[in-house]
Amino acid sequence: MMSFRWEAGPKPVDGIWAPWWYKSVHISTGFQQSKKYPVPFPFSLYELLEQSLPLYNSLRRHVKQTSSLIKSSLPPPDLPVPANEKLLAWVGDEILPRESAKVSVFDSVVQGGDSVWEGLRVYSGKIFKLDEHLDRLFDSAKALAFINVPTREEVTSGMSPAFNLYGCTLIVLPEWKPPVYDNTHGITLVTATTRRNSPNNLDSKIHHNNLLNNILAKIEGNNANADDAIMLDKDGYVSETNATNIFLVKKGHILTPHADYCLPGITRATVMDLVVKEQLVLVERRISLSEFHTADEVWMTGTMGELTPVVKIDGRIIGTGQVGPVTLRVQNAYKKLTEESGVPIPTYHRT
Ligand SMILES: Cc1ncc(COP(=O)(O)O)c(C=O)c1O
Repeated sequence: MMSFRWEAGPKPVDGIWAPWWYKSVHISTGFQQSKKYPVPFPFSLYELLEQSLPLYNSLRRHVKQTSSLIKSSLPPPDLPVPANEKLLAWVGDEILPRESAKVSVFDSVVQGGDSVWEGLRVYSGKIFKLDEHLDRLFDSAKALAFINVPTREEVTSGMSPAFNLYGCTLIVLPEWKPPVYDNTHGITLVTATTRRNSPNNLDSKIHHNNLLNNILAKIEGNNANADDAIMLDKDGYVSETNATNIFLVKKGHILTPHADYCLPGITRATVMDLVVKEQLVLVERRISLSEFHTADEVWMTGTMGELTPVVKIDGRIIGTGQVGPVTLRVQNAYKKLTEESGVPIPTYHRT
């Protein structure tokens, strides 16, 4: 008599239902399908991998750039200012060329967005309003309970929320900025449906990186072919734009919203001082949208954009539709201040 050995378990000839059959109907066979794991990474080689990866990545980048077969589908974008191609960035405790300036994927900013920031501006080798920017940076870090915040003197690295085991990373990006807005002819705004955060959910006094509602407002502005978007507070009063603070002029009075919902901008504070010095009447209060629609002049303020005239809001021409005399006067006063003040950068050489 001949005997055959028939091993338990599915065979290719059994068809796709075999695993189910063996596991349920024919459970008495005791068949367990073997689990397939990928080949485990040999941890004895971890250090070697760590050392060789930078070289491997740099070769890979080079091949990607030179080979037509494996060219990246997205070419690196042209920089708005080519001079920024060769900049050095401060990341953590190192100065690195642009290409190598990276944040770890384990940094809590990647998942939680818990970071604070400042945009500083340099005029002729002098940092404008440095103390004011550092004050806001330290206040924002304190409000978010960052620990190991460096002192003002050592501003190097260190700001870290308690759960970020890797500590925090101070990043300094010294970039040339092209003009943000047309400050000579003015710009147009539309009102976004996306509201500015209230202190109920995220206090606008913290200069944080959670800018999604501002980005949504900006998308609304882009879709309406406007330069930027006005954001209202929860009650429908004007708060600011997606990226700047906002002022209006009516019958010689200068009005700006309280900083309850808007960022207390450093340019806003500077301009408020200038307005008073220019002996103009300044009023800080709730302002409705129709007051902006019917204003004589409107301007926005920000470190990068400086003073930007607004000539149209939601299709309404503001004043004469030209840059107004009060706007010009405050623009000039601001320009003068940037020329006269600032903290000199010791290593600055005029090119
Ligand atoms: C939402 C928002 N409003 C206003 C401003 C202007 O602030 P500052 O004058 O301090 O640059 C900024 C700049 O960061 C901003 O992001």
